[in-house]
Amino acid sequence: MYENIIFEIDGSIATLIINRPDKRNAVNNATVEEIDQVLAQVEKNLELRVLILTGAGEKAFVAGADIHELDKRDTLLGRSETRRRQEVYTRIEQLEIPSIAAINGWALGTGLELAMACTLRLASSKASLGQPEVKLGITPGAGGTQRLPRLIGIGRAMEMILTGDPVSAEQALAMGLVNKIVAPDRLLSEAKKLAETLASRPRLALQYAKEAVLRSSEGSLAEGLAHESYLHALSCGTQDKKEGVASFLQKRDPKFTGR
Ligand code: COA
Repeated sequence: MYENIIFEIDGSIATLIINRPDKRNAVNNATVEEIDQVLAQVEKNLELRVLILTGAGEKAFVAGADIHELDKRDTLLGRSETRRRQEVYTRIEQLEIPSIAAINGWALGTGLELAMACTLRLASSKASLGQPEVKLGITPGAGGTQRLPRLIGIGRAMEMILTGDPVSAEQALAMGLVNKIVAPDRLLSEAKKLAETLASRPRLALQYAKEAVLRSSEGSLAEGLAHESYLHALSCGTQDKKEGVASFLQKRDPKFTGR
C-alpha cells in the first residue's frame, strides 16, 4: 500500500516504520507524504492509544533527508519542502495520543527532527544522533533549530548544530535528548512495553497533560499556567477521573474506559 513506509496496527498500538533500509531510511518527499497519510488514519482511529515510529533494518532510524533530492533543492524548494516537513512533523507532535521514537541506529538531520517531534524517545545502545546539515552547507530545516534547544538547552544545541557532529546514545541520554537506552535486540519490545503502559493510562488525562506540557515551551508562564488550569478542569469532568479517584479510595485497580 505504501512505497516507503510500513504501517501496522496491533490492538491500540500503531507502528510506523520508515522502510528504505538500503538508503539508510533517508526521508524523501514521497515518504513525507506517506507519513502524512498515516497520520490522517491515526487521528481518525479512536481505538489507537500510542504511535511508535522506527526505521527498517539495523543501521538507521533515518539518516537524514534524501541527499539526491537535496541536490536539486534551490531557495524556492528549500522554503516549500521545509515548510511541508515542519507541518507534518508538527502533526506528529500534536497528535492527541503520545508517540514514541524507537531510534534503532543513525538519527541524522531530518531523522533527529522526526524523533524530536515524538513525545518520547528510546534509543538502541548503537544509536547516533546528530544535525549534520552544516557539513552539507545548509542549516536544519524541519524543526532542528527549534526543538533541539527546547529539549537540551541552547548551549548544547548550538554545539551539535554548529559542529554537525553526532552524539552517542549515552551522550544523548545524559543531555536528555533520549529518555532511555536499551539493547538493540530489545528496542522494539521495550517501546511496546512503554506503549502498553501509556495505553493503560486514562486517555484524556494523557491527552490534556501532553498538550499542557507542549505549551510550556511557548508563550509566557502566565499563559501556560492558565492553559494548564483549563486542561486540568477538563480532566476533572471525565469518567476516568471519577474511576481513578474512586479506585484509589476503594483500594482496587482502576478500570479506565478512555471517556
Ligand atoms: N540520502 C540519500 N541516500 C543516503 C543517505 C541520505 N541521507 N544516507 C545514506 N544514503 C545511501 C547511500 O548513498 C548509499 O546508497 P548506495 O548504496 O546507492 O550508494 C546507502 O544509503 C548506504 O549508505 P552508506 O553511506 O554506504 O552507509 P553506512 O552505513 O556506511 O553509513 C551513514 C551510514 C548514515 C553514516 C552515511 O550514509 C551518511 O553519512 N549519510 C548521510 C547523512 C547526512 O548527511 N544526512 C543529513 C542530510 S540533511
